[in-house]
Amino acid sequence: MGNERWSRRKFVSRAGKTAGAAFLGLSFADFLAACGTSTSGTSGSGKLEIFSWWTGPGEKDGLAEMFKIYTKKYPSVTITNSVVAGGAGSTAKAVLATRMQGGNPPDSFQVHAGQELISSWVKASKMEPITSIWNSEGWDSKIPKDLKDIVSSNGDVWSVPVNVHRGNALWYNKKLLDSKSVNPPQSAEDMTSALSQLKAKGITTPLALASKGGNWQVQMLLENNILASGGADFYKNVMSGKASFTDSKVTQALTWIKQWLPYANSDSSAIDWDEADNRLIAGTAVFHIMGDWAKGDFTSKNWVPNTDFGAVPSPGTTGKYMIVCDTFGLPKGAKDRDNAVGWLKVCGSQEGQAAFNPKKGSIPARTDVPASLFDAIAQQFMAEFKTDTLVPSSAHGSATPPNFASGVNDEMGQFLQNKDVTKTASNLQKLSDEFLKTA
Ligand code: GAL
Repeated sequence: MGNERWSRRKFVSRAGKTAGAAFLGLSFADFLAACGTSTSGTSGSGKLEIFSWWTGPGEKDGLAEMFKIYTKKYPSVTITNSVVAGGAGSTAKAVLATRMQGGNPPDSFQVHAGQELISSWVKASKMEPITSIWNSEGWDSKIPKDLKDIVSSNGDVWSVPVNVHRGNALWYNKKLLDSKSVNPPQSAEDMTSALSQLKAKGITTPLALASKGGNWQVQMLLENNILASGGADFYKNVMSGKASFTDSKVTQALTWIKQWLPYANSDSSAIDWDEADNRLIAGTAVFHIMGDWAKGDFTSKNWVPNTDFGAVPSPGTTGKYMIVCDTFGLPKGAKDRDNAVGWLKVCGSQEGQAAFNPKKGSIPARTDVPASLFDAIAQQFMAEFKTDTLVPSSAHGSATPPNFASGVNDEMGQFLQNKDVTKTASNLQKLSDEFLKTA
C-alpha cells in the first residue's frame, strides 16, 4: 500500500491519545490492512494522482491553490498533476475513458456534476459513492440541495462540487466598446445590432469565436440561445427529450447564431476559448460568449474586471443562470484511495473553495465562502445565483448524457459550415430521439 511510513508515525503519534490499546492488540500486518480500508481520510504519505483538463491560465492557478492546501495538510504526499490540455475536456475525457476501462483510474478526477458522471461511470459501476464523506463533512448544511441533487442518484452522492461556473455570459472589451459608443447587448436582437455597428465602425470581426476541440463552444451558443428564446422550462424540456429540437424556439436560437457568424473570426477551428479571450485583449474582437472561466483567464492576465472588461448575461438570458459545475469523485480501484478521500475533503472545504474559486473565475459551491474574497463580477454572479432561475448545462455535461453532447458537438461543427437551420434542427432531434428519450 506504500503508506507504511506515515501510517506508523502518525498512528504512533496518535496512539497515546486514543488508539494505543487497540494498536497493541494488532499485528503489524493487521494494522496495515486496517489502514488500507480506512474511510476517514488520507493516510498521509505516498502519492495522489489528480486528473483534470485545467491547463489554461486561471484554471491551472486555481488547481495549484488547492494543491497547496492539500500539501500543507499532508506534506508527505506527493501529488501528480495529470492534466490533459483541451477546453471542456475535449481530449481529457477520452484519455480518462481509456484509463477507466483499462482498470487504471487516477485517484480522483474532474468531472461535471450530473449526467457526465452518473450516466457513465456510476452506471458502469466504476465509482464509489462518497455519501459517508459528504455526511461526515457536514456538507448538507454548506452546499445547496440543488447541487447535491445533481451529484446524487439512487440515494447516494457520487462527487463533490468544487465550484459553480456560469455558462451564459457575454464578455466584452469595455474600453473598446465604450470608445465605439455601443452598449453591452441585452437581447439577441441587440447583439446582432451591436455586432453590425461595431463592424461599421471598423472592427471587422467583433465576435471572438473558438471551436477547436470539437465545437463545444458553439454548443454553448446554442444552449444559451435556446434558453433565451424558450425560457428555462422549454430549455429543460428540450434537453430531456420532452420538447422537440424542431420547435421554432430552437430554430430561432440557431438563426441568431447564423446572424452572428459573419461577424466572427474565420479561424475558429484553430483556436480554443482562451485564445478567443486573447482577441478581446488584443482589441481585434469585442465580444466573447463563454463561461466565467474566461474571467479567471482575464484576471490572470492582469485585465481588471469592470475596467478592462465587463460581463452581462449572454443575450436574452438575464435572470437565468446556466450552471456548469466541476466536481471530483472517487473511482473504484484508486491506487491511493485514502489520499483521494483527503483530496475530496479539501475540494469540499471552505478553505479549498475560498482559494480555488477566485482564481478559477467561478463562484463557490459552498454558501459560507465570503463574497469579499471575490472580484466585483463574481460578487454580482454570487448574488444572481441566489435569485436567478438555475438550469444545468448540456454542453458541460450536467443536463444530458455524454453521447448526446458529443453528437451535438459534431452537428454544430457541421452548422458552422452549412448554416442550414432546418437541417440542423432536424439532426438535433434525431440525436434527442437516440440519446435523450432512452436516458
Ligand atoms: C469546462 C469546465 C471549466 C473549464 C472549461 C474550459 O468544461 O467546467 O472548469 O475548465 O471547461 O476548459
